[in-house]
Amino acid sequence: MVKAKTLYVCQHCGTFQPKWTGQCPACNEWNSLVEEQPAESAPKGLGARKGRKIEFVGLKGGEKQPPRRVSGNAEFDRVTGGGLVPGSATLVGGDPGIGKSTLLMQIVAEMSTKMRCAYISGEEAIDQLRLRAARLELANTLIGLAVATSVRDIAATLEGANAPSVVIIDSIQCMYVDSIESAPGTVSQVRTSAQELIRLAKRAGFALILVGHVTKEGTIAGPRLLEHMVDTVLYFEGDPSHQFRILRSVKNRFGPADEIGVFEMMETGLHEVPNPSALFISDYRNDVSGASVFAGMEGTRPMLVEIQSLIAPSAQATPRRAVVGWDSSRLAMIMAVLEARCGVALGGNEVYLNVAGGLKITEPAADMAVAAALISSVIGTPLPPATVVFGEVGLAGEARAVSQTDARLKEAEKLGFSRAIIPKARMRKGRAEDKGKKTVGSDTSLIIIEIDHLSDLVAKFPSAEHNHVSGPTTHASSEDTRTTG
Ligand code: TYD
Ligand code: MG
Repeated sequence: MVKAKTLYVCQHCGTFQPKWTGQCPACNEWNSLVEEQPAESAPKGLGARKGRKIEFVGLKGGEKQPPRRVSGNAEFDRVTGGGLVPGSATLVGGDPGIGKSTLLMQIVAEMSTKMRCAYISGEEAIDQLRLRAARLELANTLIGLAVATSVRDIAATLEGANAPSVVIIDSIQCMYVDSIESAPGTVSQVRTSAQELIRLAKRAGFALILVGHVTKEGTIAGPRLLEHMVDTVLYFEGDPSHQFRILRSVKNRFGPADEIGVFEMMETGLHEVPNPSALFISDYRNDVSGASVFAGMEGTRPMLVEIQSLIAPSAQATPRRAVVGWDSSRLAMIMAVLEARCGVALGGNEVYLNVAGGLKITEPAADMAVAAALISSVIGTPLPPATVVFGEVGLAGEARAVSQTDARLKEAEKLGFSRAIIPKARMRKGRAEDKGKKTVGSDTSLIIIEIDHLSDLVAKFPSAEHNHVSGPTTHASSEDTRTTG
């Protein structure tokens, strides 16, 4: 057998390759292979030595969990599912400069009034950290600051009875284990350092937060490797040119995933935004065509977001299509459905779609809101005033029901909206969750306009069919609006 001395590890997908190539054969990423020493020789199988017997237990019982470590920052606590779990590991990923260090310094500063917290930085010098603390007006808090990159030193310091309750490692890409030859930031270093730190956190019982920088492709360098090792994965995202930042949980062993926390970056650091809906629709104007308000869900929280579109004639053979904050293939689908099923001609136009405020929407429930914005832009007529829209659209143009209708409607009502355009409920009977439930919207004061097909949505525009009937209310109430109660 030929024994490979070195291996090439893709820094993007983490696979090992025996030879260097310009493009990774596994993930097709260019220039991502880096030479690394294999950590150990291949395992030799079990051999003759007998292992210890493992013990099986039932699901019931178990000792009481120690209480979670609540930060006091409502948005952060919401995303972690109610505070950090002792002995757990949390990964906070995000683009460089998005504000991870700022956020975590603020969080530990708040926590340090109740418990001992350590902030270990491998990227910045103590003076830089102090400067930031001064800027954030946190200089008088009791965080233990340290600059270190050797995992061995960190382990020696944190082991034992007087370990702090919360430890931040900023960032995992700077950490190294001295028994491995590759440079910090490489796959094997990142993986081994994280493994050691996570094991240490379990032993010593502190809540560990690892900061990880995301490469431009959107994965953490030394990438998805870490996601399965940690208990919770949070991504801190946002458009650096906007002041809003969103902390999103994509995995959480101790709470709901897909939960988001919204922050605003200011001179004095990151501030919680307790009512994001109000903020995302703050610049929404009822009288402009091409905009709609989407009643979305982010985890368990309903959120209203403005969706803007612009359709302009193009001189080019292949007109531009640009999307910010939504999936571009989903936009292409909605446009195709509008053209093929509803007779809305978009063909030779440039189409721009923007989700206001820098939020990224992933829900298919936004389909109808996007369609509404596009239709509004094409016919040059604003949507009926104070209207929210949501619902999925199928390839036949049919409007499909989405989950949590009531929560969405309630949020719209709370923020002063008076109408909602939603998919018509089909096959409600027989679905267990609907049994014995009142019809959708039966306890809302909103005027519910039900849509069966996307072409119905086209017809809802004031000037599309009726030349300026006095708003869509009259039109809608004739047949579509269900009376409540
Ligand atoms: P930082 O937390 O260093 O980002 P990361 O750790 O994710 O790399 O944030 C850096 C950015 O935040 C920097 O561009 C300046 C900005 N910032 C503010 O706007 N206000 C502040 O109070 C602080 C501390 C930083
Ligand atoms: Mg940083």
